[in-house]
Amino acid sequence: MSLAHSTILSATTALAISACLASGAAWAQAAAGDFVGSAKCAGCHQAAYKTWQESNHSKMVRPLKEGLLKDALDNWARDARGQAGPSKGNIDGKPYALDDVVYVIGSKWKQRYLVKNAATGNHQFLDKQWNRGSGLWENYGQKNDWETQCSTCHATGVRITAYDPKNTAAMKVSMSEHNTGCEACHGPGAKHVAARGRGGQIFNPRKATKAEADKACGYCHLRGENDNWLTAQGNHSEHLPHPVLGDTFKAGQDDWTQWYAGKVLLPGIQPEDSIKVNHPNTDLNNAFFIDDEAQKSGYFEARKHHQQYQEYLQSKHAKQGLLGCSDCHSPHSVKGNTLKANETCKGCHDAKMDYKVLMPGTAQTAGGLFIRSHAFNPNPRKGGLTGDMLPPPVYAYPK
Ligand code: HEC
Ligand code: HEC
Ligand code: HEC
Ligand code: HEC
Ligand code: HEC
Ligand code: HEC
Repeated sequence: MSLAHSTILSATTALAISACLASGAAWAQAAAGDFVGSAKCAGCHQAAYKTWQESNHSKMVRPLKEGLLKDALDNWARDARGQAGPSKGNIDGKPYALDDVVYVIGSKWKQRYLVKNAATGNHQFLDKQWNRGSGLWENYGQKNDWETQCSTCHATGVRITAYDPKNTAAMKVSMSEHNTGCEACHGPGAKHVAARGRGGQIFNPRKATKAEADKACGYCHLRGENDNWLTAQGNHSEHLPHPVLGDTFKAGQDDWTQWYAGKVLLPGIQPEDSIKVNHPNTDLNNAFFIDDEAQKSGYFEARKHHQQYQEYLQSKHAKQGLLGCSDCHSPHSVKGNTLKANETCKGCHDAKMDYKVLMPGTAQTAGGLFIRSHAFNPNPRKGGLTGDMLPPPVYAYPK
């Protein structure tokens, strides 16, 4: 889709939106579309809800007084090396205090901090991130609003509802809930809930092919660069809003791998975007190892984080359709059956197989802290410190 085309769409949808605004509540319902929110699912799927709440999928974006890490609080002014904590907005350059933080992002590997961006009504990042590996502050320079740069991967039912490429600061984004809610992986649930679960009407990845089921995870566990939707600051974005203005990704219904051909860079996913070469001046710069070792082995392991899907597609596991993400990961226990990633190798491989060697931490997520590779390269590189080697996070305001 060309930018000119989206401008036209924007004009017609803007009309529809203003018509709906007149009728208040009706529009709120239409905007939420067919998404009802995870709390609605809890009534009938208590076990799934409970285990989902325990997972990090439900904890990515939280209010300060819920998600702030204790170590970050204790070191807010200065860390053990005397380095100052967050103090400045990345977009407006103004000073901000701890109390100005609206949301904290992440807690397993690192934590980033969001304050209001008065110019757009969205949220901007503070200038430092907390590294749980080193226990120190490090610089963080992201200069785009969270809503328009990251949100489709950190929230559910994200929609761009107003957009003009000539005035991106005025763009509007809505979402049905923060975090990876039930409907991020199962698609919209309104029809299913209305029918009280009878007649399906909701995506069950277990009933899909492994390749199709993995696409529901791949939508967020990848790295791309999007020219179709710019950020509020007018830059290429890193997340993948639905190509149709006002619409949102519906797992099991939308094949996002086919979206906006020619206007997005998805190495290893779209055939024209090679994973074997570098893509300088983009977010994909140095995203995968492409050195001699990689060219020889044919495995291009990740150097940046959230690229599991692009790595996994290279593996024999995926190429031979042997197993998909949810054969090793359970996002929630289903009928009492919780899968544990590190126990799954033994069923098929020699009991001596060590996933810690075969899935090394190659992808740097913060200084000296790495994410485990999913390329399943039989001769993997040496890895660094990974999140599972750290103690569980301790929060400043435990419930
Ligand atoms: C009013 C009760 C009710 C609510 C609310 C509800 N479900 Fe269900 N759901 C059911 C029933 C009943 C079934 C089918 C029986 C079974 O096998 O558990 C079902 C089945 C499912 C399945 C399997 C479908 C299939 O085709 O195999 C999924 C996935 C699911 N629900 C997800 C959700 C999600 C996500 C939500 C919230 C958006 C939700 N449900 C809300 C009652 C409900
Ligand atoms: C990160 C993605 C993800 C999230 C979030 C998620 N699910 Fe699932 N869900 C799955 C996958 C994958 C399966 C299939 C599991 C399998 O292959 O064993 C599944 C299966 C199910 C099933 C069907 C069980 C069956 O017997 O087939 C139900 C019901 C369900 N989920 C409900 C929920 C509810 C309720 C929530 C929110 C509290 C939720 N899910 C959140 C990915 C997710
Ligand atoms: C809407 C985006 C989204 C979708 C869809 C999604 N994830 Fe995630 N996933 C995330 C984010 C964001 C995190 C990091 C959460 C955090 O650390 O707070 C994450 C974290 C994880 C983790 C690490 C959790 C931990 O505790 O270490 C695993 C494993 C994972 N996802 C697997 C899956 C699988 C399997 C699927 C598909 C069934 C899936 N994800 C679908 C966004 C998503
Ligand atoms: C294409 C989807 C995607 C985009 C875009 C994205 N993320 Fe993430 N992010 C993820 C996933 C998936 C994870 C967890 C897996 C991993 O890190 O390998 C993650 C992890 C994180 C973590 C670490 C979480 C923890 O618990 O330690 C932080 C912090 C984070 N992202 C912030 C951001 C910010 C800020 C942006 C925007 C500038 C952004 N992300 C853009 C998908 C995405
Ligand atoms: C459902 C069975 C199954 C499970 C579970 C499984 N694998 Fe595999 N794996 C296979 C098969 C089959 C192959 C392909 C063997 C071949 O064609 O040479 C393979 C290939 C591999 C390879 C590539 C080997 C090569 O010589 O190219 C690696 C590495 C690997 N698996 C590691 C793991 C790890 C680590 C785990 C656990 C986290 C795991 N596997 C879980 C079945 C499985
Ligand atoms: C053969 C089994 C297997 C498959 C298939 C698999 N994973 Fe994993 N995954 C693991 C193991 C083992 C770990 C490391 C231990 C842990 O974190 O539980 C892991 C860790 C992760 C992490 C956290 C990274 C870290 O450094 O701890 C994420 C995120 C993740 N997997 C996502 C995915 C996604 C998305 C897919 C599908 C594209 C997938 N995984 C497929 C076995 C698997």
